[in-house]
Amino acid sequence: MVPGPPKPFARLVGPRGSAIALDQADALDAIATGLSERSVDAVVTSPPYNLGVRYGGYDDDRPRPEFLAWIGRLGAGIDRVLADDGSLFLNLGGPPSDPGWPWEVARAAGERFVLQNVIHWVKSIAIARAHAGRDAGLDRDIAVGHYKPVNSDRYLNAAHEYVFHFTRRGDVALDRLAIGVAYQDKSNAARWASGERGVRCRGNVWFLPYPTIRRRAKDRPHPASFPPELPEQCLKLHGVGRIRLALDPFVGIGPSAIAAARLGVAFQGYDLEGEYLSEARAALLREGAKDMLASQPKAALAAGTQRSEA
Ligand SMILES: C[S@@+](CC[C@H](N)C(=O)[O-])C[C@H]1O[C@@H](n2cnc3c(N)ncnc32)[C@H](O)[C@@H]1O
Repeated sequence: MVPGPPKPFARLVGPRGSAIALDQADALDAIATGLSERSVDAVVTSPPYNLGVRYGGYDDDRPRPEFLAWIGRLGAGIDRVLADDGSLFLNLGGPPSDPGWPWEVARAAGERFVLQNVIHWVKSIAIARAHAGRDAGLDRDIAVGHYKPVNSDRYLNAAHEYVFHFTRRGDVALDRLAIGVAYQDKSNAARWASGERGVRCRGNVWFLPYPTIRRRAKDRPHPASFPPELPEQCLKLHGVGRIRLALDPFVGIGPSAIAAARLGVAFQGYDLEGEYLSEARAALLREGAKDMLASQPKAALAAGTQRSEA
């Protein structure tokens, strides 16, 4: 554990001018001491969910009651800082041998909230040409995306995870068309008022594959990350224009920070592991963000030089 108040790890300005803060900290402590009441409009996160994943220093294999009590305390911390009409998007997956576990975790974490939507994040899917219909233009059956195969004659490969969308009362209006999909038959757009932007609601099944990588350790150096497109869709769905601050208490290698930077949304991220935060910072720099902490010493140096020359 990283004791004490949040330790600033990086302070960046994203390519669209939004402030991105990454702190090395225990999430529960940091939420309690580093954020004021009702200051966060959207939380998008994937907490550790006690599956024995190797995250560096963190023990991801605790007795279940202890873990569920901990995640309940996380929910209480978020309850304090989330705005009245805020959204909590909680990404959880389960092992093939225990498919009910994500629901137990979600129930404990979201005890103080109303479950407004359940989104299915599909990482891989097989589509038969015959089922896709002629408009899809497939010339053969396809299987797309990636998943971790299980070696079993009992369990199916886990090709999806959940995103549980919690709000305070279950009544938060969403910008469904911000992540809408184009009508296949354009005449439908005129038929429904909701088709104004030429798109319809995407629904609650999101196919977002991991990009194909060659060297896992270098290209995705985290055992349980999600692609930036997942938090990006969550933030857009909540409504980018009304997000003053987005939070990921378990930011890992930074996909939610990248999503916020791309959308011009202010962001706060925490993680215990400095190594992951370094990766997050590097990924943000690749997105065109500037690290204000890193540039400070140079600026101070330059100011000092100018003074001595004056
Ligand atoms: C499921 S991963 C999140 C991965 C992240 N969404 C990504 O795509 O890179 C959980 C993360 O929580 C971090 N973590 C575990 N316990 C923590 C705690 N108490 N406070 C802050 N971070 C913690 C781990 O280091 C790990 O990076």
